[in-house]
Amino acid sequence: MIINEHILIIALALKKKDIFMSEQSNSQPTLNDIVSLCKRRGFVFPSSEIYGGFAASWDYGPLGVELKNNVKRLWWQDTVTDNENVVGMDGAVTTHPRVWEASGHVEGFHDPMVDCKTCGHRFRADKLEEERCPKKPSKFVCECDGELTEPRDFNLMFKLHWGPIEDPKNITYLRPETCQTIFINFKNVVTVTRQRVPFGIAQMGKSFRNEITTKSFIFRQREFEQMEMEFFVHPTEGDKWFEFWLDRRRNWYESLGVRKDNLRMRQHEGDELAHYAKDCYDVEYKFPMGWQELEGIANRGDFDLKRHMEYSKKDLSYRDDATGEKYVPWVIESSAGVDRTILVLLSDAYDLDKAPNDKGVMEERLVLRFSPKVAPVNLAVFPLMKKPPLIEMARKIEADLRGPYRTMYDETGNIGKRYRRQDEIGTPLCVTVDFDSLEDNTVTIRNRDSMGQIRVSVDQLHQAVADQMKTMEKPWDQK
Ligand code: GAP
Repeated sequence: MIINEHILIIALALKKKDIFMSEQSNSQPTLNDIVSLCKRRGFVFPSSEIYGGFAASWDYGPLGVELKNNVKRLWWQDTVTDNENVVGMDGAVTTHPRVWEASGHVEGFHDPMVDCKTCGHRFRADKLEEERCPKKPSKFVCECDGELTEPRDFNLMFKLHWGPIEDPKNITYLRPETCQTIFINFKNVVTVTRQRVPFGIAQMGKSFRNEITTKSFIFRQREFEQMEMEFFVHPTEGDKWFEFWLDRRRNWYESLGVRKDNLRMRQHEGDELAHYAKDCYDVEYKFPMGWQELEGIANRGDFDLKRHMEYSKKDLSYRDDATGEKYVPWVIESSAGVDRTILVLLSDAYDLDKAPNDKGVMEERLVLRFSPKVAPVNLAVFPLMKKPPLIEMARKIEADLRGPYRTMYDETGNIGKRYRRQDEIGTPLCVTVDFDSLEDNTVTIRNRDSMGQIRVSVDQLHQAVADQMKTMEKPWDQK
C-alpha cells in the first residue's frame, strides 16, 4: 500500500506534472491562520501558557528559533560581514539613565492614553477606532458607550531600580531601542578600529517598550528584538548615503524571497517625523492587518552625537586625518524588527494549493514557500517504509547532509503525510530512500513547490540538492 502511494506520486509527478503545479491561491492568510500554524508546528507559542498566558509576550519554539537565527545571520552577513566599512558591537540592555535623557526618551517617548471609567481598561487614544472593547468585542472602543478620561501621556520605557536599594536615585530603564549604545560608544569604536567616516556600527538585540496596545501577534510586543545599523557620514554626504541604504535595505527583504508586490517604501510626512529625524522612510509590508511598518530608515543628522556631547560633556566629534577637518558626523540609521521580519516571512510564504492525497484525489495543501535560505529545515530524509535496510541507508544519508543543511529524519506515517508535514513547515526538499535505492544507490528528491520528483545517484546528491535549492530562492517567481 505504501509502495503504491509512493509509485503513484512519482508516476503523477512524471506523467501529469501539470496536476502538480500548485494552483496558488494568492489569498493572504489571516493573522489567526498564522497564529494557529505557529502554535501547531512549534514556531511561536503564547508565553507562560500554563499560567494562563502573559500579555504581549511570545516564546519561539524549535522551528521559530531556527527561522529567527537565519534572519539574524543573514542580516549580519548583509550589513556587517559583506561591508568592510561596517563593524558590529553588542551593548548592554541597561545603561546610565542619563543616556535616555540625552536621547529624548525620558521627555518625549510617550503615547497618548485614555482610561475607560466603565470597563476599567486602558487604550491608546490615537487607536480607538482599531481596538475592540474588551467588554463588548463586537464594538470598537470609539463606538461603545464607555466613559473615557481625557488623553494623557504615557511613557513607554520600563523603569527599574539598578542595585539592591529601591531609591529614586537608582532608577534606570530597559532600553527601548538598541542604537543608543552605538552612539555612546562612537569614540571607542573609532579609536579601536581605525574606521574612517563613512563607516557604520551595527548591533542586534532585545528592546523593551511598555506598549499600551499589544495586539497583532508578534507584530507589537513589549519585549522584542531589533537589528540596527548607524552609518556615520560627512554632513554633505547625508543624502547620498540615505539613498544607498534605502536601496540596500529593500533589496535585502527581496533577497529573503519576500514578494516585491508586498513591500513598499513610504516617506514620513513632516508632522510624522521623529524628533531626531531630518528624513525618514518606512519599509512597509502588506501584513494580514494591512500595510504596516517593518523597518525605519532615517537621516538622523547630528542629533544623537550632539545630544550625548551636551549631556556627557565629552567631545564626540570626529577629526578627518587627511583634511584636518573636525566635525560631528551625521547618521543614517536602518532600524529593523526581527519579530516583524519573522511575521513577514510567515505571512509571505503561507499558501493553500491543491495536492493529491494517498488515493491520487486532489486535496487542499497548506505549504510555506520559504526560500531555502530562511527555511528552518532545509531537507527531510525518509525511508519509504520502516524496514531496517531502508532506515539504515536513510539515516546515513541524513547524517551526511546534516551540517551543510539543517536536516530532519522522519519515518512515521505514510509517505504522503510525511510530505504534507514538511510542506507545512516549509522544508524545500525531501529525500526518500526506497527499495530501488538498495539496488542502484539512487534516491528521489521531491521539490516542495512543484511537487515534482527526480531520481539521483547518492554520489550526486549534494550537487543535486544544491542545484534544486538554487532554483527555489525566489519561490514565487517559480509559480
Ligand atoms: N532606533 C529607531 C527605532 O527604534 P522604531 O521605528 O521605533 O525606530 C524600529 O523601531 C523597528 O523596531 C520597527 O520598524 C519595528 O520593526 C521594530 N519595533 C518597534 N516597536 C516594536 C514592538 N513593540 N514590537 C515589535 N517590534 C517593534
